[in-house]
Amino acid sequence: MDNTEPDRTEDLVEVVIERILPGGLGLAHVDGRTIFVSLSAPGDRLRVKIERVKGNVAFASVNEILEPSSVRIEPPCPYFGRCGGCDFQQMNYASQLDAKAEMIKDCLRRIGGIEHLPEFSITRAPNEWHYRSRAQWQYDAVQRQLGYFESGSRRVCDVAECAVLAPELQSTLSSLREQMEQGTLPDDARDFRAVIGDSEVSISGGVRSPTVREGNRIQTPVDITRTIAGERYRLNAESFFQTNADLLPQLIEAALDDARGERALELYCGVGLLTLPLARKFTSVVGIESDSAAVKFAQSSLSLAGLSNTKIAREDVGTWLASNEQNLRSDAPDFLLLDPPRTGAESRVINGILGCKPKRICYVSCDPATLARDLKKLIAGGYSLKSVVAFDMFPQTHHVETVVQLVSAQE
Ligand SMILES: C[S@@+](CC[C@H](N)C(=O)[O-])C[C@H]1O[C@@H](n2cnc3c(N)ncnc32)[C@H](O)[C@@H]1O
Repeated sequence: MDNTEPDRTEDLVEVVIERILPGGLGLAHVDGRTIFVSLSAPGDRLRVKIERVKGNVAFASVNEILEPSSVRIEPPCPYFGRCGGCDFQQMNYASQLDAKAEMIKDCLRRIGGIEHLPEFSITRAPNEWHYRSRAQWQYDAVQRQLGYFESGSRRVCDVAECAVLAPELQSTLSSLREQMEQGTLPDDARDFRAVIGDSEVSISGGVRSPTVREGNRIQTPVDITRTIAGERYRLNAESFFQTNADLLPQLIEAALDDARGERALELYCGVGLLTLPLARKFTSVVGIESDSAAVKFAQSSLSLAGLSNTKIAREDVGTWLASNEQNLRSDAPDFLLLDPPRTGAESRVINGILGCKPKRICYVSCDPATLARDLKKLIAGGYSLKSVVAFDMFPQTHHVETVVQLVSAQE
């Protein structure tokens, strides 16, 4: 039987999922049309509902599982499908890892134009569940709902128990929910953020009001300390901090690899997760970060560790590279590390990196597509890949962290 025949109902189509694409959607083809299916597994035979069409591409949801893939499992979370948080729970863990490895390779080949990848590995998470040490919960004061946004919407999916939260954060969520039920959460609250420290959780609450600017907080977070691989980091619920602390020692080791030398430059350094280990390996380090609170925390952690060889500049990375162009050309860093947000590095940042000609570059990325885009430019600028390793920092979701080491062709 031709299993790609359109169903009688116009917006229902039968498909077989070929593979999972970067971004987490399953890929299928029907009558020359490409169909992206959410929450599917490779090998699934499905009846899907076309939700949206854009040119020759249709976006669809699962209407009926006609024949489940051998890697499909029953998603254990009761909110699966409604909550926008986890989009990989329908696949067993081994196939989640396979899908992520394929996504990275696909991006590097297709977007990065990289034909020959160095040996590649993906490190599994020690905990497939209950790993999140940082979270953001949305609050709807009118409907009295607290949880995550529903998939593709700004409606709050009310979540009592979240299977990927570390136990300390589950307790925090439960206690906020108790306050919600007692009516003691502020009505103008928009969201709550929380991060786990060594001995306490830092929580912050955000306001929704036409008179209060976005980003204003009603519950001021306490500053906490989190120890990772022997280094003590100061932070609070408002700072960026990696979500999966279990994998951080291995991520740090992969990022710093065997790098050593005189000068290191770190772009997008945040609260200094990678800055402290860098400061122990290099004679001098400069970190660049635009968020003033993160800069303050990085400086405070360096000072508590007695590391005086490192300066943190509070500035936009592109602006800093442009205004330090001359110095960087005459005093090139031995090692340049960048860990940008999901959008990757702006073109002027890549140009600035190429202009200062570091001997080695380490790129830490949470988005394989923007990583591949940026690597293409770095490779065209005279660098070659030394290694590519990935870490499954976000089990049950399509997200993945990649660490790439590059060397200058002149080395
Ligand atoms: C993915 S985080 C990495 C932080 C740090 N490496 C870590 O692992 O904790 C990216 C950081 O870049 C900062 N950032 C984003 N855009 C920036 C820009 N244009 N200039 C400087 N810093 C920026 C954010 O504030 C955030 O701290």
